[in-house]
Amino acid sequence: CGIVGYIGYRSAWDIVIKGLHRLEYRGYDSAGVALMNGGLKILKKAGKVSDLEAFAVDADKTGTTGMGHTRWATHGEPSDRNSHPHQSGDGKLSIIHNGIIENYAVIKEALIAKGHVFKSDTDTEVLIHLIEEIQTDSVDLLEAVRLALNKVIGAYAIVVMSKDFPDQLIAARKGSPMVIGVGEGEYFIASDATPIVEYTKNVIYLKDLEIALLKRDELIVKSIDNIIQTPYIQELSLKLEMLEKGGFEHFMLKEIYEQPRSVRDCMRGRIYPIEGMVRLGGIKDYAEKLKNAERIVIIACGTSWHAGLVGEYLIEEFARVSVEVEYASEFRYRNPIISEKDIVIAISQSGETADTIAAIELAKERGATIFGICNVVGSSIPRLTHAGVYTHAGPEIGVASTKAFTGQVTVLTLMALYIAQLKGTINNAKLVNLLTELDEIPALIERCFKEDKKIALIAEKFKDSPNCLFLGRGSGFPVALEGALKLKEISYIHAEGYPAAEMKHGPIALIDADMPVVFIATKNSSYEKVISNIQEVKARKGKVIAIVTEGDKIVKDMVDYVIEIPESNEAFLPLLATIPLQLLSYHIAVLRGCNVDQPRNLAKSVTVE
Ligand code: G6P
Repeated sequence: CGIVGYIGYRSAWDIVIKGLHRLEYRGYDSAGVALMNGGLKILKKAGKVSDLEAFAVDADKTGTTGMGHTRWATHGEPSDRNSHPHQSGDGKLSIIHNGIIENYAVIKEALIAKGHVFKSDTDTEVLIHLIEEIQTDSVDLLEAVRLALNKVIGAYAIVVMSKDFPDQLIAARKGSPMVIGVGEGEYFIASDATPIVEYTKNVIYLKDLEIALLKRDELIVKSIDNIIQTPYIQELSLKLEMLEKGGFEHFMLKEIYEQPRSVRDCMRGRIYPIEGMVRLGGIKDYAEKLKNAERIVIIACGTSWHAGLVGEYLIEEFARVSVEVEYASEFRYRNPIISEKDIVIAISQSGETADTIAAIELAKERGATIFGICNVVGSSIPRLTHAGVYTHAGPEIGVASTKAFTGQVTVLTLMALYIAQLKGTINNAKLVNLLTELDEIPALIERCFKEDKKIALIAEKFKDSPNCLFLGRGSGFPVALEGALKLKEISYIHAEGYPAAEMKHGPIALIDADMPVVFIATKNSSYEKVISNIQEVKARKGKVIAIVTEGDKIVKDMVDYVIEIPESNEAFLPLLATIPLQLLSYHIAVLRGCNVDQPRNLAKSVTVE
């Protein structure tokens, strides 16, 4: 969910609504705003932020203190009733919340016994009733919220407003992010810096278990156990242009087309082709540890997990260290074997994914050294890990990850070569060659866009298919997985990625004349093998779309459609082969009339476990 709050001299509605649009990537099941104008005014609605705006068109929206929420449902279906803000029984208090209160059922029962009546099915409403129960004439709002938070188990980022304290916002966090914007005579609060950046560059990242009292010209930060904290004000490097579409129809398309730049930025200052050297300043202090690591465990979710699989191929190939790639959510719940000798690499675009954070905490407890590969600077994971390497892809707004994925793959490529350099598993001449080729990759990504028109035509042919299979071998396998995920995320076509050779052990049963099968069939070590797999599909009349190396005639003669990508070293194939698959999904989703940037039921940053 996304949270934004404002206290100052401007229209709170305007700031909150604009902020909610920026945060909509975090969830868009329902949206709501609370304003202080006379009393507490609550406007909320199931649906998108724009539905809320339409709903509130004639309402009185004056007021210079307010807060808003855009929801990704956990407890309770998306509905007007379950939308935030929620209120206390007497209607004097209001709350917005991101996270999950795990012990809400027990608290709810106790409150019902005391006569509280609940209007929604949410855990959040329980929390505001608990605050109401604690607050008395002698306990002020800050103290009541603090005491209530001491009773809850779970994760939260909250903002609370009270009719009796009209010049205050109370905010607190545990496990869910929260940034305070510091203006003159005004304060902002939000789940990330995007709603704040156009008003002030000065921000404070609230830490876990901190609670803040915001007035127009005063800020008090305390720990949840009541110790005053000195907040650290940082300057944002985020620019407003980075948050806009820049002439593209969708953020996703803009972000696909940004990849030559984002991959270049990711490598900047890190590769030295002439010297045959990789420098990774973020992890250099752990060089010795890396050199001696017997095992590397990669943890991540979703697209980031796919990047991890590419990392496995690269690190094992170049650095000759055994790598395991784990879903963060599975890793943490199965008593994993982790020792002090292990290096754990956590990959996360947002740096906020709750499952990944929990897995990091577990690995840390067991003594592992943890590196982060994150995109959002200053997010939770970079602050939790021992060291890390940012992807520098810039803000990714489209919910389906594109440039962040290629950024992650780029960092993993650099890490693989860096570890190899430390361990001496590749010689300098080879490193010179590899880095020279890697340096060319941004230009080669650019060349992949030549096929965009053709891809749009192919999309026309397959837009109504109910299913699609993606097949690849070697590092083409994670690319296939990512291609399938992209398609299902944004077009709602059922898609599966498989190692091409595994097809005969199951998915082959699905193949008929209506089944599109996308092959990664570039000229590399598994080329001949992939060709055999293509034959197996064609023998069953499947429709084949093949991603091939420029100029390939053999595959072209065999399949229904080819999409060409430039020739490169096999190690860098995922950085190129991913591009046409992103475009294919994009065009299919657009043709199907789907909301490409905000696909149904998904959220970009999943801060609940
Ligand atoms: C969500 C997003 C995915 C993303 C995953 C992991 O499910 O919809 O696109 O890959 O979270 O996110 P992270 O920020 O940790 O990379």
